[in-house]
Amino acid sequence: MSEPGKTKFQIDLRRHLREQEVNDNLTHLICEIAEASKYIINSIRTGDLGVAGTSNLYGEEQLALDVLADRILRKRLDHSRVVANMMSEEMDEIIPVSPDCEGKYSVAFDPLDGSSLVDVNLAVGTIVSIFEGCDLLQQGRNQVAALYVLYGPRTTLVYSVGKGVHEFGMNNLMEFTLLQENICIQPKGNLYSPGGQRNKYTPGTEAFVNHLEERGVKLRYSGGFVPDINQVLLKGKGIFFYPHLKDLPNGKLRLLFELNPMAFLVEQAGGAASTGRQRILDLQPNEIHGRAPVFIGCKEDVALAEEFIAKFESETPAEEKKTSKKKFAG
Ligand code: F6P
Ligand code: MN
Repeated sequence: MSEPGKTKFQIDLRRHLREQEVNDNLTHLICEIAEASKYIINSIRTGDLGVAGTSNLYGEEQLALDVLADRILRKRLDHSRVVANMMSEEMDEIIPVSPDCEGKYSVAFDPLDGSSLVDVNLAVGTIVSIFEGCDLLQQGRNQVAALYVLYGPRTTLVYSVGKGVHEFGMNNLMEFTLLQENICIQPKGNLYSPGGQRNKYTPGTEAFVNHLEERGVKLRYSGGFVPDINQVLLKGKGIFFYPHLKDLPNGKLRLLFELNPMAFLVEQAGGAASTGRQRILDLQPNEIHGRAPVFIGCKEDVALAEEFIAKFESETPAEEKKTSKKKFAG
């Protein structure tokens, strides 16, 4: 807090991390990810909307934006000297970076979530989950940090190292400066973002949605997970869900690249994240690309979703434990 009459200096990301007493390696890692996002936003803004395998006006081979974003982040993490293992939504396997785990971090990331929205000029984002040491297949509650970068009309970065949730905006010099500290989600909200086709909802989710609509809760769904979660966090109210569907018992979103980091951020802001039956951050991942249904946002709204599911769907479908191998974009 600056004193009245004194110049108020902007706080940049590195300084904020230092003030939060984040160690040098983790500070370096988060700042490297922030650096990579500058190249990603540049590709989104200026890159031809080429499809992988085609060539641009100059005959140069094009990469689809999600592939490009993946390469930008991978290269940055590879050269950071603080990463042990990494994996991305775009990769089939964990990529070992350094055999030495001491003082290093392992990173799971979705380089460009919602990439199919770029050609209709809607907001997209990068999502990152960070664990200490080498192990990436552990419960989300062990994350030491999570963040996302949202490429919308403005570029913002939201992070937590387990000490609250903080928002930064990219300024005209492409530096991230503090916009808001200790973001809080109210216990109950008045907006909802429902993913998936409604005619495929199971009875519990259908009853929950009917309840929300009777309560006068407003529909606010962009189709991009990062802007939809950002809306809940920054408005401080609301619930996002991509539930289990009749033909997709595990929903669509991936635990390691999408749900864990967002659940960490939302819990840090005082909200909750559940599959409808259990806490997301308690799920033990058994494979890299596993999916789970999700209800995430205001605590009371998430608890209510769980109640409706428990009431209407007393039996857990046997298929819920199996993992869908179906491929989705983004
Ligand atoms: O990563 C997948 C994604 O694009 C998310 O950003 C988004 O929340 C979801 O899919 C949207 O899926 P649907 O189009 O089925 O609602
Ligand atoms: Mn995604």
